[in-house]
This record gives sequence, C-alpha cells and structure tokens, in this order.
Amino acid sequence: MTATPDDPHEEFDWEGLRSEAVAAMEHAYAPYSHYKVGVAGLADDGRVLKGCNVENAAYGVALCAECGLVSQLHITGGGRLTHVVCVNAKGEVIMPCGRCRQLLWENGGAELLLWTVSGVKPMSEVLPDAFGADDLD
Ligand code: THU
Repeated sequence: MTATPDDPHEEFDWEGLRSEAVAAMEHAYAPYSHYKVGVAGLADDGRVLKGCNVENAAYGVALCAECGLVSQLHITGGGRLTHVVCVNAKGEVIMPCGRCRQLLWENGGAELLLWTVSGVKPMSEVLPDAFGADDLD
C-alpha cells in the first residue's frame, strides 16, 4: 500500500487509484477545452469505477468526468463511493468542480475521502454544510 506525502499515516493505496484515474483520462473527449480529466473511485464493496470528461459542440452540455464515474457506480450495482481522485492530462490531482462535489456528496456522503490539491480530505471538508438528501425530509 502506498501513502501520499500529505497523509503518511493513510493505509489506502492512493497511488493505485490515481493510476486508474490516469487510465480513464486517456479516454477523455475534450476537443474544445483541450483539458482532459479522468477520475477513479472505490466503492464500498471494492469495485473500482472510472470516468472521463466528454465534451460537446454545444459547450454547455459537456459531461464532467465525475458524471461518468457516478453512472458507472450505478450501472455496476450501486453502493457508496469511499475514495475518489480526479486528475488532469499530466496526471496531477485536481479538484472536482462545484457541481461534481455535489455529485460526490450524493454518492459517498460526508465520509467519502477525496485526494485534493491539499491532501486527502473527507467530503465534509470539501463541501461544508452541504445540501443533501436529509434536507428533503
Ligand atoms: N471537468 C471535469 O471533467 N471535472 C471537473 O470537476 C472539472 C472540469 C472538465 C469539464 C470540461 O470538459 C473540462 O474539464 C474543462 O472545464
């Protein structure tokens, strides 16, 4: 297992998950922004899910990589995301956009661990005071 420099006590194989995100990024379709994104996540039953961004001539309907990740989570049996990392074309860790933080919240909740540009953080820190399913009760 590999720890990140930011989290020397973390047991999880973050570098392995980042490699999966890089592999996903290679499939990105980003002819307009030329900004390829890949994301990989681990589900609570051990499945690894991936996604890449898919742009469109109608720029506003571009799909972020996280959309594909979440779709694959559900297609392959559902469950909850526990660990996620998102990368750019250089394989560098990037932050999910605001909308995609909301997607991650819905599918992993406060305890989902995200490798951010400032280390591994729970979603409760990445999206504080998030709006979620509990608010609809
Ligand atoms: N993008 C993602 O795929 N995920 C994010 O969280 C940030 C942005 C994509 C959307 C667009 O295809 C490109 O990056 C530039 O914004």
